[in-house]
Amino acid sequence: MTAFRKKLIEVDLPLVAINDASAREKHLRHGHPSTMHRWWARRPLAACRAVLFASMVDDPSALPDEFPTEEAQRRERSRLHSIIKRLVVWENSNDEALLAEARYEIARSVARSRNEICPASPDGVLAYLRDYAPPVYDPFAGGGSIPLEAQRLGLRAVASDLNPVAVLINKALIELPPKVAGKPPVNPDARSAGGAEWRGAAGLAADVRYYGKWMRDQAFERIGHLYPKAKLPDGGEATVIAWLWARTVPCPNPACGVPMPLVRTFQLSKKSKEHYWMRPALKPDSKRVSFSVQNHAGDVPKVGTVHRNGVRCVACGVTQRTSYAREESKAGRMGEQMTAIVAEGDRKRLFLPPSEEHVAIARAAEPKWRISQKMPATAHLVSGRGYGISRWSELFTERQLVALTTFSDLVKEARDEVRKDEGSEEYANIVATYLALAFSKNTEMNSSFSTWEADVVSVRGVFGRQAIPMIFDFAEANSFANLAQNWSIRVEWVAETVEQLPVSLNNGETFQADAAATTYSVIEPVIVTDPPYYDNISYAELSDFFYVWLRTTLRDVYPDLFASMLVPIDEEMIAAPRFENSMERFERLLRRALDLIRQSCAGNVPSAFFYAYKQQEEELGGKASTGWEMMLSALIGAGFQIVGTWPMRTEGKGRLNAMSTNSLATSVVAGLSSARGECAGGDADAVPAGVGAGVARRARPPEA
Ligand SMILES: C[S@@+](CC[C@H](N)C(=O)[O-])C[C@H]1O[C@@H](n2cnc3c(N)ncnc32)[C@H](O)[C@@H]1O
Repeated sequence: MTAFRKKLIEVDLPLVAINDASAREKHLRHGHPSTMHRWWARRPLAACRAVLFASMVDDPSALPDEFPTEEAQRRERSRLHSIIKRLVVWENSNDEALLAEARYEIARSVARSRNEICPASPDGVLAYLRDYAPPVYDPFAGGGSIPLEAQRLGLRAVASDLNPVAVLINKALIELPPKVAGKPPVNPDARSAGGAEWRGAAGLAADVRYYGKWMRDQAFERIGHLYPKAKLPDGGEATVIAWLWARTVPCPNPACGVPMPLVRTFQLSKKSKEHYWMRPALKPDSKRVSFSVQNHAGDVPKVGTVHRNGVRCVACGVTQRTSYAREESKAGRMGEQMTAIVAEGDRKRLFLPPSEEHVAIARAAEPKWRISQKMPATAHLVSGRGYGISRWSELFTERQLVALTTFSDLVKEARDEVRKDEGSEEYANIVATYLALAFSKNTEMNSSFSTWEADVVSVRGVFGRQAIPMIFDFAEANSFANLAQNWSIRVEWVAETVEQLPVSLNNGETFQADAAATTYSVIEPVIVTDPPYYDNISYAELSDFFYVWLRTTLRDVYPDLFASMLVPIDEEMIAAPRFENSMERFERLLRRALDLIRQSCAGNVPSAFFYAYKQQEEELGGKASTGWEMMLSALIGAGFQIVGTWPMRTEGKGRLNAMSTNSLATSVVAGLSSARGECAGGDADAVPAGVGAGVARRARPPEA
């Protein structure tokens, strides 16, 4: 048995530095994994990096021979903290010298527990960590922050999640890049250029860029005619960034009867020097509302035609309840009308009135195939359900379906191209995986549930919130544009992420598993994880939006992962209304998962749990609870001893989030020990003090 030594996470963490770096991360773009694909409730990499390091490194109080006095221990702790403070800075993510320093500290602690000497060279340390450090396992891996950071620290990372989309993201972050470490790109351009040294996954990134561009060119050849340029008043032309549309329902006023355009706002740009809005007017001859573009601030109507009290007809001024629009939509009488065109100008956006020619072109689009999946009847977070929308394909215009089916087909064709250029099935599948992620992320910007945001003058994707609310006025982005949300940017963001992924000796492993039903085959892992919180996010329901496209695009590559028509939902560990006694069910499953974790986890290293929870005590399903208390009692019930709790600010305060009643303010990490191992050093019986820090130990041994 290896010796148990108190770890840094049980004693002290530089919280201010960790929280500052975590908060900053929310605003990062280039190369951050969150830009590769959406996942909900991602933990900041900074917090994960710090927690992993502090969970693995011995606290100096556990080393009385080396640090006999409190002062010596304090100095050593402060040295370790200085490593964490540098580690959490995003710009240092790939600082090899700093990572080598951090890995050495971890390897030293592992070596101590085995009474061995730690190798000194960075490569020796990596090999030692691979062979002797326990693997880090995250059974609720989601967007992969924890496994990714474990891999960065040179540890073997193992990730699982119930959700196939999450599993795919984790594969892309930790499993695939090490397979191509140092491999040069295979595309003809790079081959003919020759010579360059390709470090890490840079060769893969170059291929993602090349074949992503190849896809764009192919797609433009096939469907470019559906994306006409806008005609400018001076006779010139401009590439369209987005076409803006309003859904319409017929005005029920018998004296009126015009199709009522439903818009949240008439504003197109709120930028001070570019204040644009669209003015509705009734065309007397056509009994139809038309739109012109205005660019002076004064007269902008304060509200749109959709507001809390209902929907208003701009022609006759009569307001109907919103339920009227819902019923009309269900009866198949909801239409859509172009309201404006946004085009690329010289370092600015151009706002133009709708064009009959462009409307006709959009209406001519006919996809060759469509995704067939129905939405589950319980998809309560997809508000379109109430409007008679029952299939995922109905969240897209016909032209969007043409574009998405074309790009989906092209991922498969790009895979064939890579195979032709390089000859290996495995590498072709790897490149196709990243192109499919770019494609999947692009669907979010190419839905009739994407919106035009006048404050940032850009298209906002479907998931401004952790739900898909009904959208009446939507933006149809042009994937072939040069600015804003387009295919090339999606590919570039994936490539930048790939370029910066850690590619060490230690290959990550990813699989799909129900954390409440699996007995882990991972041997004595260190568990660092982040379970779901009650009904805060319906991962399966939301991720179907991506899954239906990923399945059709990648099923040949990952037949098991994409076997089911939709994301598995029955085993999901959330307190969604679709489950009977949903609160009790959630707590029961969480307890079961924690039981399984405790039975499998390494005994000589604490497990760490991130837990996002609502700070204020509130009524949850009629039962007074704080999620935090429930989590602590579930951990203790599973046989863990709580050895430290840390308040961490890992939740963003995005505008939409802050408005939502569901927003979580704070996450807390608890460093916990399971039963096994002899304790050396440490404070035995202090009780955890809620959200502050607390230390305790002694727990049940694992069941036989
Ligand atoms: C809070 S999120 C994890 C977020 C992750 N730490 C990150 O940084 O992106 C919780 C995850 O639990 C997953 N999940 C829900 N029920 C599950 C189950 N029964 N087994 C395994 N994973 C499950 C969800 O799909 C979700 O990805």
